[in-house]
Amino acid sequence: MSSQSNRVVIFDTTLRDGEQSPGASMNLEEKCRIAALLEDMGVDVIEAGFPIASNGDFEAVNAVAKQSRRAIIAGLARATRADIDRAAEALAPATRKRIHTFISTSPLHMKYKLQMEPDAVLQAVKDSVSYARSKVDDVEWSAEDGSRTEHDFLCRCVEAAIAAGATTINIPDTVGYAVPDEYAALIAMLIERVPNADKAIFSVHCHNDLGLAVANSLAAVNAGARQVECTINGLGERAGNAAMEEIVMALRTRADRMPYETGIDTTLITRASRLVSTVTGFVVQPNKAIVGKNAFAHESGIHQDGMLKNAQTYEIMTPDSVGLNKSTLVLGKHSGRHAFRDKVKALGYDLDDARLNDAFKRFKDLADVKKEVFDEDIAALVDDEILRAYDRIRVIDLAVVCGTRGPQTATLTLDVDGDRKTVTAEGDGPVDATFKAIKAIVETTARLQLYQVHAVTQGTDAQAEVTVRLEENGKTVNGQGADTDTLVASAKAYVTALNKLLVKREKTAPAGAGA
Ligand code: KIV
Ligand code: ZN
Repeated sequence: MSSQSNRVVIFDTTLRDGEQSPGASMNLEEKCRIAALLEDMGVDVIEAGFPIASNGDFEAVNAVAKQSRRAIIAGLARATRADIDRAAEALAPATRKRIHTFISTSPLHMKYKLQMEPDAVLQAVKDSVSYARSKVDDVEWSAEDGSRTEHDFLCRCVEAAIAAGATTINIPDTVGYAVPDEYAALIAMLIERVPNADKAIFSVHCHNDLGLAVANSLAAVNAGARQVECTINGLGERAGNAAMEEIVMALRTRADRMPYETGIDTTLITRASRLVSTVTGFVVQPNKAIVGKNAFAHESGIHQDGMLKNAQTYEIMTPDSVGLNKSTLVLGKHSGRHAFRDKVKALGYDLDDARLNDAFKRFKDLADVKKEVFDEDIAALVDDEILRAYDRIRVIDLAVVCGTRGPQTATLTLDVDGDRKTVTAEGDGPVDATFKAIKAIVETTARLQLYQVHAVTQGTDAQAEVTVRLEENGKTVNGQGADTDTLVASAKAYVTALNKLLVKREKTAPAGAGA
């Protein structure tokens, strides 16, 4: 593949750069689930983590490598032998593997972050890439803070990286500073000036600090880049990374202006967005392009009228093309296990018998209290079921007394590592009482940073989906819970967040880790 080809490689970094977003940490099972879905979507390269950052990262990359089928699995490494060794070890089981090594090249980063002279950085590029090539055939080299790097020096580094064996050259806009014409010109300049540029694919990796990550990435594709690094829902540090769904749908919808192809099955976009949101607890903003709740909603009379006459009047892509089916009334309380299994499968889940049984039981409970059960309800319920499968703390029972008279009390039973404990706590309102009850059972210094509720579907019997963000010792985690009872959903969300804190590995990335 070269800048002449019209195929754009999609490199997903949800599990690495996306996970660097504060509070977005995922455990091994969650990463494996996301990776499996990314493969189903047709993602070309899955960056599964930064193996030297922690044992948890190493194990996650290793597990994703083991389960991988067709996608290239990438592991991040700084320009050191220890990082590269660790990445190679983690990636070993993958059928197709890539070491992604990087070093900063901008004057600011070299002077203050690396405290290295440019010549030493250039030497590190040569050494790290050739060492990585001694481990795997597929090596990507990134110039961290590439968009703020002096051009002559960048050309020398890129040429050296390709000469040392890098087959993909990534030029990140690490701090989201670039604007589209400037960034496109940078890529064009490199392809033009670097003598061995034709031996590598040029890649872009844009952060969204100015809201330009997608625009910058697309401009760079027009200038010859053929790999785009992105994340589902634009997850990532600070303002995030370029959103994969936006890149892919822009290329597809505007093929007239951008005649490039990706291998992505766009009908899995909604499913992936939802999974990443559930796992991380990062709710997608309603007006988010492609995957926001309102992205295909037409509220005003004029628009609705136009839509009825011809959908193209106000719709540039169909909801179906991103896997968003109209809310369908799917099942009722008389539906059997067979119908439920078929529906779960059609929604893209692959559950083993035990989990299917648990989910079916919960579906029956839900159908008892909710007349109409929609696709979204089933998805929320199954996600909830799967996410709880590895939890050490579980909500068993909750009874709340609330109303104007007070005091509001919550009597709660939790299962903690197989032991059931029940307490009653008073609080300033039912949510406060519920959270106090949890804290009376599970000792924690975690502080609540966010409590958010939204309805999965419409109507007063809708399931509530609650997000709770907790902070403990500088670490932030999000937990989500869904239930027709908002307080039960709240308890589940809080407990999910606590479970994440319990399993949260030492995530402190080593000094110099990329943005
Ligand atoms: O933003 C960045 O520069 C990065 C690199 C490590 C690729 O994430
Ligand atoms: Zn980044």
